Amino acid sequence: MRKPIIAGNWKMFKTRDEALQFIYAVNDQMPSNEEVESVIFAPFVVLRCLVKRQGENLKIGAQNMHFAEEGAFTGEVAPNMLTSIGVTYVLIGHSERRAMFNETDESCNKKLHSAFKHELKPILCVGESLEQRENGTTEEVIRHQLVEDLKGLSKEQVKELVIAYEPIWAIGTGKTATAQIADETCGYIRHVVGSLYDQETADAIRIQYGGSVKTSNIDELMAQPNIDGALIGGASLKSDDFITLVNAALK
Ligand code: 13P
Repeated sequence: MRKPIIAGNWKMFKTRDEALQFIYAVNDQMPSNEEVESVIFAPFVVLRCLVKRQGENLKIGAQNMHFAEEGAFTGEVAPNMLTSIGVTYVLIGHSERRAMFNETDESCNKKLHSAFKHELKPILCVGESLEQRENGTTEEVIRHQLVEDLKGLSKEQVKELVIAYEPIWAIGTGKTATAQIADETCGYIRHVVGSLYDQETADAIRIQYGGSVKTSNIDELMAQPNIDGALIGGASLKSDDFITLVNAALK
């Protein structure tokens, strides 16, 4: 049995006061970490204040990091800086970073190696554009991302990895992939992991769906056999909705 994982990606939203309001509202409402993993990916500047107040059933993650230990990389944040303030998760390769901030499969691969080295738990995002979905190259695109991004990772590491399938056309558009499309593509990701590693690894890896997930569609998505959780943008900003979304994983 794979433990469900529900994560909120706040993107570039929330000031310190807003972040504090959120964590005080959700802390006591999170179900046990034994049953569902709950994570908030917050902007760098509020990570420490969230970590200091996190309850035992809510984890805090960064939305990006550099792969290097340290160096002359103005504006970047190193993995050991994150662990030194108690951050435990990191998002790698979100499509917004790939599209707007020059994130490549090569840098995603380096970041994954670096995250494991520093004992940060990575969630790797993959997914196709609308054009790729429409011209029938979804599987090819996703296979390529997985082959390049997972290069050199051990079977043990991949079993610990979480992959978020986020079709770019469904992000922030209100246009959720149907549960069937989401499940089929998550199943394809599992199949590729099986072909790159083995069946045991494919059965162990957790795969989330992300893209316009909200309280009204999470139940149907979570009911699919290949979907082990959700990565949620907009709907994760409201504390009440986040509580409902996390609890949906228990059903
Ligand atoms: P929305 O839930 O706002 O569509 O965003 C999805 C996403 O990009 C999560 O990482």
